[in-house]
Amino acid sequence: MTDASTATETKMTKSMEDIVALCKRRGFIFPASEIYGGINGFWDFGPLGIELKNNLRDAWWHDMVRCPPAGPDGEMLSIVGLDSSIIQNPKVWEASGHVGGFNDPMQTCRQCKKLFRADHVEEMVLESEWYQELSQIWPPKKIPSLDGLRHWARKNGKKSAPGLALVRDTNNVLQELEKIIKSTDDPGDVWASSNVLFGADCQIWPQDGVCPNCGGDLTEQRDFNLMFETHAGAVRDDANKVYLRPETAQGIFLNFKNVLDTSRVKVPFGIAQIGKAFRNEVTPRNYIFRSREFEQMEMEFFCHESEAKKLYEFWVQTRLDWWKSLGISSENLQRRDHDADELSHYSTACADIEYRYPFTAPGFGELEGIAHRGNYDLTQHQEHSGAKLAYFDQEKNERYLPHVIEPAAGLSRGVLVLLCEAYTPDPDRPSKVYMKFHPRMAPIKAAIFPLVAKEGMPEVAQKLYQELRTKYAVQLDIKQNIGKRYARMDEAGTPYCFTIDGQTLEDDTVTVRERDTLSQERINISQVATYLAEQIG
Ligand code: GAP
Repeated sequence: MTDASTATETKMTKSMEDIVALCKRRGFIFPASEIYGGINGFWDFGPLGIELKNNLRDAWWHDMVRCPPAGPDGEMLSIVGLDSSIIQNPKVWEASGHVGGFNDPMQTCRQCKKLFRADHVEEMVLESEWYQELSQIWPPKKIPSLDGLRHWARKNGKKSAPGLALVRDTNNVLQELEKIIKSTDDPGDVWASSNVLFGADCQIWPQDGVCPNCGGDLTEQRDFNLMFETHAGAVRDDANKVYLRPETAQGIFLNFKNVLDTSRVKVPFGIAQIGKAFRNEVTPRNYIFRSREFEQMEMEFFCHESEAKKLYEFWVQTRLDWWKSLGISSENLQRRDHDADELSHYSTACADIEYRYPFTAPGFGELEGIAHRGNYDLTQHQEHSGAKLAYFDQEKNERYLPHVIEPAAGLSRGVLVLLCEAYTPDPDRPSKVYMKFHPRMAPIKAAIFPLVAKEGMPEVAQKLYQELRTKYAVQLDIKQNIGKRYARMDEAGTPYCFTIDGQTLEDDTVTVRERDTLSQERINISQVATYLAEQIG
């Protein structure tokens, strides 16, 4: 997560709590296993959520595989699809480096025993209830009230931070603090020593950090492999150990030769895949942003080394433009180039497309990564498997392992971006909020309402519904007053509502109500399908 380069400080009227509540209320996303108390890091997509996810998936497949953009020199690009197994031979993950290197540094709290990703600890502490309470009692650069701290430690602190040194060892910590206060006139110096509150035995902030949950001391960092393990076959021993794939990309490299030999593709070309990936994230958080089961949309574009740089730039720009074409505003998207020390050893360049999520604002968080992977993966698989994976260019009489540009996007994370972007509070509407999805992404494209459930109106509505449903995801809603029906559709993000009323029976016209402008116009009922086609495509 990075800070906003231009502190645009957009009025973030969107709160994650409100978005999550709407998603639950309207059936976009539910916690997995909810009736059993849920399971951390897993989510289920409800009826509206799966339509939204499918729309995003289909748009990516269409725009990347069926009808990719023209390449950097205006040439037609060739990209084919693939659906590889989630479980592969475990040697795959040794070759790819995931067995040895796909680790997160992890820490455990000595007091409450909870696990944390070491690089998330500081941010989580700053967000924690107990830290925020303490910051009220001891604001930056001020001399704290020792009585205030003692009172907090003996009351609220016991509940929110029982592991904190100040709570466990109140008298000693406060004596230490008193000495510091007496030793200097500068409140800034005292503030700089505020870590004394957290340190066991009155040490300054313990070297390994404090627990975001209870304030206790953390163990030193240990590597934790993120791959889920299981066994293939009846015997659950090491020989049968297999892994759930942590990325879809490797399945593509494994099939590079198969595709080359069967599809008449020539380098440069791409192989694309959408599917589930699994990572045993230490701290899944921020709703579906970081989950343990999620979907990816990845494409490996194989090219000659001499073209890789140009294609890398092309794909970074193309992918950024693609997200904008789905209605994500430019001010909420940014390109962030990785610093040299962030790059994997084999990668020469990597850029993230970042979105300004409500929980990162005014900063940004990753949505998609575009990596210049060199020919590392093919080299590794060639060495580990013994298979010959080189490409032979007949025209140039040259044999080589192609280099790869990889745009790797999260499908689940993309859904989160669509939800956050669409969420639009509007106090003047009965629903108080509407989901401003791009029509291409909207889970329901149109709703059909008879104004009243009598006088032949439901029959006309039914007929129109039957005609439209053959092409579009549409809904027929007959009951409740019309205002409530509009409100439901606003929350679902339905761009158009067609209403059959008394006048329809006389002149065959219906009203079209447009979600964003709330404008209404009458069109002939025979024109509805054409109207939708023009608006939605
Ligand atoms: N093959 C390269 C690769 O997997 P990555 O940056 O680890 O790269 C690509 O993942 C994208 O997958 C990310 O940009 C993000 O959108 C998504 N992603 C990764 N881990 C995720 C998680 N735990 N939950 C949801 N989405 C995740």
